[in-house]
Amino acid sequence: AALSSDHPLKRDEIANSALIRALRGLDAPHTPVWFMRQAGRSLPEYREARVGTGMLEACLTPELAAEITVQPVRRHKVDAGIFFSDIVVPMKLAGVGVDIVAGRGPVLDEPVRTAADVAALPELPDAALDPIREAVSRTVELLGGTPLIGFAGAPFTIAAYAVEGGPSRDHLRPRTMMHADPQAWDALAQWAARTSGAFLRAQVEAGASAVQLFDSWAGSLSLADYLEHVQRHSADALAAVADLGVPRIHFGTGTGELLAAMRDAGADAVGVDYRIPLDTAVERVGKRTVVQGNIDPALLAAPWPVLRDHARDVLRRGQSALAHVVNLGHGVPPETDPEVLTKLVAFIHEETQ
Ligand code: CP3
Repeated sequence: AALSSDHPLKRDEIANSALIRALRGLDAPHTPVWFMRQAGRSLPEYREARVGTGMLEACLTPELAAEITVQPVRRHKVDAGIFFSDIVVPMKLAGVGVDIVAGRGPVLDEPVRTAADVAALPELPDAALDPIREAVSRTVELLGGTPLIGFAGAPFTIAAYAVEGGPSRDHLRPRTMMHADPQAWDALAQWAARTSGAFLRAQVEAGASAVQLFDSWAGSLSLADYLEHVQRHSADALAAVADLGVPRIHFGTGTGELLAAMRDAGADAVGVDYRIPLDTAVERVGKRTVVQGNIDPALLAAPWPVLRDHARDVLRRGQSALAHVVNLGHGVPPETDPEVLTKLVAFIHEETQ
C-alpha cells in the first residue's frame, strides 16, 4: 500500500524534492518546473472531467478538485501540483454572490463600491473551508512524494474583481477608491487579506507544502500606490501562514517595477512574468530571493526549436539567482498542445540534471 501523506518517509521526500529545495534556496537535483493553469482546458482529461459541472461547483467537490489537480502531474511529470481552485472561492464560501463565467472570469451579483458595501461583506466562517481541507488532503494523498502548492488571490487582485464587479482592463475603480476613499479601501483590502489568508492557512494545514499569492493585476499600480495602499495588505495575507514554515511565492504580471516591494511583503520567491529578462529581475530582487518564471506563454505555440532556445535562455539568465523555479510568465493558454508542455518539462529536467 502507498505510504500515507503524513508518513515520515513521504514528508522527507517532499522536503527533499527539487521544488521545495529550490524555494528554500538550496541546491536541487534539477531545476524544478511547474505551470500556472497546468490544470485546465489545455488537457482533454480536464475537459472530460468538467462536462456538466460548473467551475465553482468543481472547486467545491473535493474528489473532483483532487483528480483535476493531479492530472497535469501524471501527464507532464511537473515538479508540483497547484491546487485546483480559484481566487474567488473563499469569497464564495464567505457568502458573496459570485460566479465564474466561462471565457470571461469572476462576476459578482453586486459590485462592492462604497464604504457601506464594504462594511456589509460577510466574514468567512472557518467551517466553510472544510471542502477545501478535504480536497487538499485527498490531493496530497494522491500526489505521494510530489509537493502541492496552495494559493490565494492577493488583496489588490481580489478587490479589483470586487469593486469592478467583474474582469476589467485597467482596474480604474479600485485604483480610484484607494485615493478617493482610503478608509473604505483599507477596510476592503483588510477583508480580502483575512479571507485569502484563511484560505491559504486551510490549505497548508491540510498538507500543502508551499503557497503562492497571486497578485495578477498588481502591474496596473504605480510603485507609490503599491507601497502606500497595497503592500501591507499582501503582507498580512502572507503572514497568515508565516508560522507554518512553508515557502511563500509572490506572483504578479507587469510587475517589473514592483518586484522588490513584492519581495518585501514577505516572500521567499518572486514570480516574474515574461516582460523583463530573468537576470534583470534577479538584479532587482537581489541574491537572497528565489525567482520563478519566466517563459513567454506565446512561445508554447511556436516551433519547438524556437521554444527550446527561449527556455535555454531563461535557464541561463536564471543562473544568476539564488535558485530558479521554471514557470511561464502567466497561465497556460487553453489552446496549448499539451504534448508541448510534456516535452518542455523533460527538456528542463535534462538540461539541468
Ligand atoms: O493550474 C492552476 O493554476 C490551478 C488553478 C487556478 C485556477 N484559477 C483555475 C481556473 C488558479 C491558481 C487560479 C487563480 C486565478 N483565478 C487567478 C490568478 C492567476 C492568473 O491567471 O492570473 C485569477 C486572475 C483568477 C480569476 C479567473 N478565474 C479568471 C480570469 C478565469 C478565466 C475565465 C475563462 O474562462 O477564461 C477563471 C476561471 C478559471 N480558473 C479556470 C480555471 C481552470 C477556467 C474555467 C474553465 O475551465 O471552465
